[in-house]
Amino acid sequence: MGDGSRVVLVTGGAGFIGSHVVDLLLARGCRVIVVDDLGHGRRENLVAHQDDPRLQLVVVDLRDDFAAALAGLPRPDAVLHLAAQVSVPRSLRDPVVDLDINLRATVRLLQWAAAAGVRRLVLASSAAVYGDPARMPVSEDMCDRPAAPYGASKRAAELYLACLGPALGVETVALRLFNVYGPRQDPGSPYSGVVSLFMARALGGEPLTVQGDGAQTRDFVYVGDVARAFAAAMDTPGVDGLIANIGSERATTIAELAAAIVAATGGRSPIVHAPARAGDIVRSLADASRARVALGWHAELSLAEGLARTLAWLG
Ligand code: UD1
Repeated sequence: MGDGSRVVLVTGGAGFIGSHVVDLLLARGCRVIVVDDLGHGRRENLVAHQDDPRLQLVVVDLRDDFAAALAGLPRPDAVLHLAAQVSVPRSLRDPVVDLDINLRATVRLLQWAAAAGVRRLVLASSAAVYGDPARMPVSEDMCDRPAAPYGASKRAAELYLACLGPALGVETVALRLFNVYGPRQDPGSPYSGVVSLFMARALGGEPLTVQGDGAQTRDFVYVGDVARAFAAAMDTPGVDGLIANIGSERATTIAELAAAIVAATGGRSPIVHAPARAGDIVRSLADASRARVALGWHAELSLAEGLARTLAWLG
């Protein structure tokens, strides 16, 4: 990167992860077009760039006629596709909405990218494609059996990219994100990521609800590390068709996470238990060696440091 003439289109660019990707792209000299329906994304996430003429925000839902909204804008070199329905429980409740957003809109975006002459599309996929595999850590070629429609729609999107990308002449990369956390993760809904929910409750002195026995594990990866992975996926030559895990390669139980967050916030909140969530996976841990080899990427921040940075942001 470093070429100020490059244009990158970031869907979901006003969202939690997308806005960190935008920060990085602008810092590296790109022009950025953000496409976001501002459903979960927020203008505040991009406020640091409000006077930067290299950033353009197009407010449109990818289920609508986004091509019309993008007409007349510069042709992007790459598309980073982070707009998504991100909640596993919601995908069980509204599987058709999940399908429309996570699969159908992705296929339409790929067709648009081909027509626009885009070189490469990078998809934010998910560790949820694995379900509950027999062995840990999970590597990309392990048999996948998603536990919820969310994982199925993300996997289906990967498969569409794999067959349609070459047919349409667009390079594709799919990053299987593990549990991303960090500043700007919104604790505003019961379906928000567990780190943001636990932190908001701990800072308010309210109880933290551990669903299930708390022994389920997740691989928490800091959002700044994930933004670097998107930049690498966009720029690294010779990786057409790559699917790569993006995780820290460290497993943390939800009970450990709750205890760490209570301790870091002064220890006032009780930890209470609730039934396990339907469609919840039990263990998740990345083998990220493919990203290391193919993209030269690895997670740099420890969970302790990442949690400290997130708390500092929450103030
Ligand atoms: C998350 C992401 C998903 C991503 C996937 C990758 C969100 C909302 N979902 O799903 O987009 O693709 O990781 O693996 O960020 N829990 C509690 N108490 C709470 C909330 C959650 O115990 O108050 C537990 C859940 O039951 C679950 C774990 O924490 O076992 C993680 O839940 P959550 O943060 O919603 O993430 P995932 O379902 O793993």
